[in-house]
Amino acid sequence: MVKTLNFLIRRKLLASIVLLGVARSITLGAAAATKVGTPRKILVFGGSGQLGSQIVRALLAAGHDVTVFIRPTSDRSRLANLTVHYVEGDVTVEADVRRAMQATRFDVVIDALGRSGANVSFFAVSGTHIAKWAAATGVRQLILHSSVGTGQSKDAYPSERYVAMRALFAAKETGENAVIGSGVTYTIIRNAVLRDPPDDVPERARLVNDQHVYGSVSRRGLARLTASCIDEPSCRNEIFHAIDDTLPVLR
Ligand SMILES: NC(=O)c1ccc[n+]([C@@H]2O[C@H](COP(=O)([O-])OP(=O)(O)OC[C@H]3O[C@@H](n4cnc5c(N)ncnc54)[C@H](OP(=O)(O)O)[C@@H]3O)[C@@H](O)[C@H]2O)c1
Repeated sequence: MVKTLNFLIRRKLLASIVLLGVARSITLGAAAATKVGTPRKILVFGGSGQLGSQIVRALLAAGHDVTVFIRPTSDRSRLANLTVHYVEGDVTVEADVRRAMQATRFDVVIDALGRSGANVSFFAVSGTHIAKWAAATGVRQLILHSSVGTGQSKDAYPSERYVAMRALFAAKETGENAVIGSGVTYTIIRNAVLRDPPDDVPERARLVNDQHVYGSVSRRGLARLTASCIDEPSCRNEIFHAIDDTLPVLR
């Protein structure tokens, strides 16, 4: 009787562990629509760029109040006719980042920056400034777009191209670590290959916890997933890789 009971308890325990494992691998999937929740004040770095502007659109569609951090020289055409606020500055200048983040109390900050020029240290400097002032100004959630190849995802990156990318990934790792160490609830979303199918082709982007995953994803998909992570408990303090299995992978 005791033996049977022990067996049943062990089996239940095993089932719970398996279930926990499954739950851990469940992520925001392709079907997850942008959730309309509490409107948040959101600051987007890189919001005028190819990825950032799609994120801005997804955030506006979800009812958020969006401010774009922008250089005076930035091309604003991707944001034409959108109801957004602007704050001007250069992210590599810490005083500009501080001023932008002290001007308004932002709930969420999103970093969708792309490198300006050839200087790879850009990602270390920008990530460090953003993380520091997000923490200092009481930001509640920080979402950073990063690259597969960074940190523990080194092995996922094609080895023949890794050496050429090493300095970039090191700079991105510094940025990621600044975000993780800031104490602000963070979500890091890494992409490997960006491919943008025509607008009428549905995207099936999803986020996975597995840092060995390498695949393609569209900016449209990344934008939807970013908006889906606002206030989403399963995105808290997570590093994700974003992939869309319907897109071909170029290694
Ligand atoms: N894996 C891939 O295939 C792949 C390919 C491309 C990009 N990516 C990654 O995807 C992400 C976004 O790329 P994207 O294509 O959207 O880039 P993008 O179109 O070049 O946009 C970059 C954005 O960052 C802004 N920015 C650059 N330097 C700045 C500065 N000093 N101060 C303030 N803003 C600045 C740009 O503004 P300005 O107009 O003023 O420059 C622009 O809004 C990046 O993390 C990038 O590394 C991956």
